[in-house]
Amino acid sequence: MNAEGRTRLDQTPEWTALNKHREQLGEVRLRELFDQDPERAGRYTLKVGDLHLDYSKHLVTDETLRLLRELAEARGVAGLRDAMFRGEKINVTENRAVLHTALRAPESASVEVDGENVVPAVHSVLRKMQIFADRVRSGEWKGHTGKRIKTVVNIGIGGSDLGPAMAYEALRAYTHREMQFRFVSNVDGADLHEAVRDLDPAETLFIVASKTFTTIETITNATSARNWLLTGLRAGEDAVAKHFVALSTNAEKVADFGIDTDNMFEFWDWVGGRYSYDSAIGLSLMIAIGPERFREMLAGFHLVDEHFRCAPAEENVPLLLGLLGVWYGNFWDAQSHAVLPYSHYLSKFTAYLQQLDMESNGKSVDREGNPVRWQTGPVVWGTPGTNGQHAYYQLLHQGTKLIPADLIGFAKPVEDLNSGLVAQHDLLMANLFAQGQALAFGKTPDEVRAEGVPEELVPHKTFQGNRPTTTILAEELSPSVLGQLIALYEHKVFVQGAIWNIDSFDQWGVELGKVLAKRVEPALTEGAEVEGLDASTKSLVATYRAMRGR
Ligand code: F6P
Repeated sequence: MNAEGRTRLDQTPEWTALNKHREQLGEVRLRELFDQDPERAGRYTLKVGDLHLDYSKHLVTDETLRLLRELAEARGVAGLRDAMFRGEKINVTENRAVLHTALRAPESASVEVDGENVVPAVHSVLRKMQIFADRVRSGEWKGHTGKRIKTVVNIGIGGSDLGPAMAYEALRAYTHREMQFRFVSNVDGADLHEAVRDLDPAETLFIVASKTFTTIETITNATSARNWLLTGLRAGEDAVAKHFVALSTNAEKVADFGIDTDNMFEFWDWVGGRYSYDSAIGLSLMIAIGPERFREMLAGFHLVDEHFRCAPAEENVPLLLGLLGVWYGNFWDAQSHAVLPYSHYLSKFTAYLQQLDMESNGKSVDREGNPVRWQTGPVVWGTPGTNGQHAYYQLLHQGTKLIPADLIGFAKPVEDLNSGLVAQHDLLMANLFAQGQALAFGKTPDEVRAEGVPEELVPHKTFQGNRPTTTILAEELSPSVLGQLIALYEHKVFVQGAIWNIDSFDQWGVELGKVLAKRVEPALTEGAEVEGLDASTKSLVATYRAMRGR
């Protein structure tokens, strides 16, 4: 029992029952589960919107799923979900509502924060974005010298970068092909340098994206970008208005930076950075794909929001995915989770999910501040198939670690591939299906022997299988489908945080490094004596200074 009178997660009867069930399952084999139930593939398939999800290749039985759902019920997942959708301040350590779902709610909806319906403001910003995006796309918005904008450079980091950068890549086939879009995040000057070195400042628009407008990387890059622009144009400060817009919750800091707040697109403190790309933070994406496609994407998000809110537990896909993660992380000691999209357009998808999942659930105290005694968020990793197959899949197949994975693929290639390349799509997808099968069912020693393999090589060529995967298929990677996929993962992360009783919406763990970096910088530049530096860091700083000739 904790201080709030709630039984500790690992002392609940539901947790105990799952532990016992896990013991009883022992060395459960996927081969046997499929042999025992010819209907398994069909029974363990769910649909949400355009997503077809096969979870039959998981180390679960009906009993496992029932016990997991009972755990979710006992831990009040549905109650916390409803509180989130209602706008209650479920981000307890920051005393904030968590309302990314309001960003994609239809205009007729009403969601109140502190007694005020936030939906009209959401739609008013969307309209302002739309007008601006249309003006830039059509060439009506001109730079300081009267030239049209050809390149948009988004400057932001974390949630103010990963979302738009990922979605731009994902939806590249739908983008304005006469324009270029670049994303600068790293405070390493190389990032900005490479992004602008071949650009004409007169044709470049910078979008400075920062929820707080205090993030050092972003403000530093934005300041350098402004200098590059003014030097390149040989212009004064008045040129800034035509080449810089801001996306932020902090109008005061935007004005301090020198951006007219008329050129600011607002969002709100109830939007977490890693949940923000369907807010004003998505402006670069909206310019790239156009307002209509952007709205289709929002509708995709909303579809899955409604599914998560309303679908019964047995059919609730985000709930299921969250529970499967709990099953492996807490009852099978899995430490990581691989996300393997079989789409080159999703090359940044897993990096985006890393922030979504690891910044949300990388916590070791519960919502009341007590240390947790169970594993929380996994390490999320992965790259697009088939590239990963020729790199780390060896470990997935024959290593000693259990790594559940998501395989994501699409039936149709995007439209604008030429026909010769379209033919490659079946080969790509054949790899996805083959990997799912090989991971689940492996290859027994007898099967290896039957191929005439010499006995001494049999152990090396045996695949144990039993590596669990979820396969997610959709007809094509459209804006709506991308929204559906992201919302699915957002709510999965929510479910896990609710079960582990952690605050999935704060990120205090990133603060210490930021504070220390500020303190250490004068030691590098001026050789300042910085208090509190440990011996190793002191010596590294001295070596660095010597290497810089200081
Ligand atoms: O340092 C972590 C973080 O606060 C993320 O949560 C956020 O997405 C990122 O920094 C950028 O913050 P901002 O949008 O305020 O610049």
